[in-house]
Amino acid sequence: MKVLSVVSEVYPLIKTGGLADVAGALPAALSAEGVEVATLVPGYPAVMNAIENVAPIYWMDELFGGPATVLSAEAAGLQLFVIEAKHLYDRPGGPYVSPAGVDWADNAFRYAALARVAAQIAYGEVAGFVPDVVHAHDWQAGLVPAFLRYDGRRHAPSVITVHNLAFQGQFPASIRPALGLPAHAFSLDGVEYYGMIGYLKAGLAIADRITTVSPTYASEIRSVEGGMGLSGLLTARGSDLVGILNGIDDEVWNPQTDPSLPQRFALNSRVKRTANKAELQRRLGLEEAPDRLLYGVVSRLSWQKGIDLLAQALPHLIASGAQLALVGSGDDAIQQAFTLAASAHPGSVGTFYGYDENLAHLVQAGVDSLIVPSRFEPCGLTQLCALRYGALPLVARVGGLADTIIDANEMARQAGIGTGVQFAPVTQRALETGLDRMAEIWRDQTTWNQLQKNAMKTDVSWRGPAKHYAALYREIAGLRAGG
Ligand code: ADP
Ligand code: GLC
Repeated sequence: MKVLSVVSEVYPLIKTGGLADVAGALPAALSAEGVEVATLVPGYPAVMNAIENVAPIYWMDELFGGPATVLSAEAAGLQLFVIEAKHLYDRPGGPYVSPAGVDWADNAFRYAALARVAAQIAYGEVAGFVPDVVHAHDWQAGLVPAFLRYDGRRHAPSVITVHNLAFQGQFPASIRPALGLPAHAFSLDGVEYYGMIGYLKAGLAIADRITTVSPTYASEIRSVEGGMGLSGLLTARGSDLVGILNGIDDEVWNPQTDPSLPQRFALNSRVKRTANKAELQRRLGLEEAPDRLLYGVVSRLSWQKGIDLLAQALPHLIASGAQLALVGSGDDAIQQAFTLAASAHPGSVGTFYGYDENLAHLVQAGVDSLIVPSRFEPCGLTQLCALRYGALPLVARVGGLADTIIDANEMARQAGIGTGVQFAPVTQRALETGLDRMAEIWRDQTTWNQLQKNAMKTDVSWRGPAKHYAALYREIAGLRAGG
């Protein structure tokens, strides 16, 4: 079984969020299920610099404004196809935005190109790899199913995974001819979306199957509140939509071998975490107090993540005697709120603004509890890392957070199965109640220890989810269509 994974970012080559983690870790887990995955990615500078065993295998004279070469390559154990197209991808900055932080004006074509090349591979035009299934991720790969349908050539079936419905890739209808899509593609069951061309919408309308990254999010996005304009379509396609939980790479996230930690530890030596806590407190200018409940956050600072609610709840958190270590990047207004709080409460709030993987690992290994107060969360990966590292998650009861953390209520405690605390609804008040509950557990170290053990024993690997994806691929592999 061969699968072509089509994605705009992949860890460790290029990453803005969990999408890259998923794309980077799932192939190895699928390999254990007998699925061979090749990953198609744009040739951004970071990708071009990281790839090895590079060989050109397919040439295009014209790919949205210039020539392109598809390279076969490897990096970090991944089998890759890389689109070398200097006019589209050879730029400084992030994958989607310029160094000034503005979306690249030609993103419609940069990601149409990704889908165009994916379709050529799906037709078997690239020697040596004819996929049985094409797996597109998020809006950046949303046109893959559309090209497959409207080219009219015989092709493999497709799956699209929604990692985040908030990003939909909408572009003016006027670009349709330049995309090479026929006029009839601009229809309700095609690429049309509120008078525009919707890349994610196209993928959701046309792919043979739709997955998203947790069962709860799969049901939330069928509702008007959670569907972000797509609930009608997702409800209509309900029988083709399934939620499969993410895992984490248990080699990258292994407290026993983690090279970023001053003190490695295992389930039975978790008391050693105190050394990591002390180091984190020093690094972020927090009072070095082993007995104060230390909360952590590792997050994009955006509305989705509810970090502004945490800023509002900070006086409550500090009044309880706790501390907070925050590592995040994004929204300036949220940063300012925390900077203010940090200066008002020296020694109790420590912040690092920016992207720092080593520090993210130290947070997971040093804090007592990780807070994830998201307004919506398709899956979330940081709470999974927290489980593995023995930091009890305090999470909003939404999406994948609801599915992965077992609230330590009385019943769960009696059954010996709690792994963290959930709060709902996603408000400052409910978050404060959640903080109170966590503080109460902290005061009862016997219960705390039990929950920490439960957390660290939870299977957060890709092994289970990979079986689900493999079964899905097998189910649809026979569905060749067109031509
Ligand atoms: P999302 O993809 O919505 O941002 P996820 O929880 O799925 O959320 O994935 C976030 C990933 O990015 C995790 O691997 C997390 O550790 C990492 N991350 C987020 N913010 C930072 C940061 N400031 N520094 C380092 N890693 C970060
Ligand atoms: C998105 C979501 C996050 C999810 C990640 C990987 O970025 O916001 O919840 O974990 O994709 O699927």
